[in-house]
Amino acid sequence: MLTLGIETSCDETAVALVEDGRLRGEKLATQVDMHALFGGVVPEIASREHLRVLPRLYRELMAETGVDRADVDAVAVARGPGLLGSLLVGVSFAKGLCLATGASLVGVNHLWAHLLAPGLSGELHFPALGLLVSGGHTHIYLISSPSEFELLGRTLDDAAGEAFDKVAKILNFPYPGGRFIDDLGREAEPDTTLFPRPYIDNPTLDFSFSGLKTAVANHVAAHPDLVFDTMADADAVAALEGRRRAALSTVCASFNWSVADTLRIKVERALKRVGKVKSLIVAGGVAANSMVRETMRTVAGENGLVLTLPDLALCTDNGAMIAYAGWRLASAGFSHGLDLEAIPRGRVVPLDWAVPAGEGKP
Ligand code: KG4
Ligand code: ZN
Repeated sequence: MLTLGIETSCDETAVALVEDGRLRGEKLATQVDMHALFGGVVPEIASREHLRVLPRLYRELMAETGVDRADVDAVAVARGPGLLGSLLVGVSFAKGLCLATGASLVGVNHLWAHLLAPGLSGELHFPALGLLVSGGHTHIYLISSPSEFELLGRTLDDAAGEAFDKVAKILNFPYPGGRFIDDLGREAEPDTTLFPRPYIDNPTLDFSFSGLKTAVANHVAAHPDLVFDTMADADAVAALEGRRRAALSTVCASFNWSVADTLRIKVERALKRVGKVKSLIVAGGVAANSMVRETMRTVAGENGLVLTLPDLALCTDNGAMIAYAGWRLASAGFSHGLDLEAIPRGRVVPLDWAVPAGEGKP
């Protein structure tokens, strides 16, 4: 089965083709430089860019893979959560294609797709504990199958990636700054007394990262010589030297440790609570973080679990993960009608597929 995936939920426009679980081709255009001027994603600019770029990416993907549009069996589209105007561009495009070609339509939960993405490069083992750490979300799920996700814990305020980006902004690093904190932090040992591990002294599986951001802001206010005066570019970060580089590296490593260790505590707590699972899946942009990857490797090892991590290119938003998640659903007969709704951030994505009676799970 050949599935086209379409991703337009935030600031990446992406399309991909997955055939029988394997990636045949993908195209991606990021808007990150445009939004960097404003220090965050501007929704109206994002939707206009999707509208401008998506038809071209689709044509290029079909030309480069040599696929005829009539050969596409299913069109999978990220239907939420995300920016509503941006989602509507992808959802409308997908519906138009299905009307024109007769392909079946399947709406994909963007968050679930992040967690299923590693299936493109290796086997997924269910039941799994899933940790999604992205720019917009920090969720812990019990995943029984590609269509059965139970939300166990979530952030009450900032997402993990948002915490990285906001701390990077305080330090005047380029946007989005998670990667710069990761890179610089690798040059120093974390000072584990510098910043708190937020919201761990409670029995919940929820997160709260906003206080950690304030702790970094207070530290920086007391050491104003640490930060750049205006927003630095990548060259300025690379050119940092001497004591200032060392001190800033320690701040980055320590903040990174506070996030990674908080994630560890909640994941270990979740594992105790859910009982037997076969694997730990970690996904989303922050799954690209070296300390988070290392920490989760240790957690999985100590609990006898298979650790499933996406390749670095599959961590941030992409079309391949939508095509793959859509292929898992569509090949099991799951589909949506042309009344498929786009779901903005803050609303729960409904389980409103048509499911074939008596069929197996995806
Ligand atoms: O999953 P994603 O593309 O966004 C959403 O769907 O929300 O993740 C983007 C987030 C940004 O906050 C970015 O700073 C963060 O992932 N990120 C990182 C790293 N690479 C990307 N955070 C920490 N360390 C990294 N290496
Ligand atoms: Zn995402």
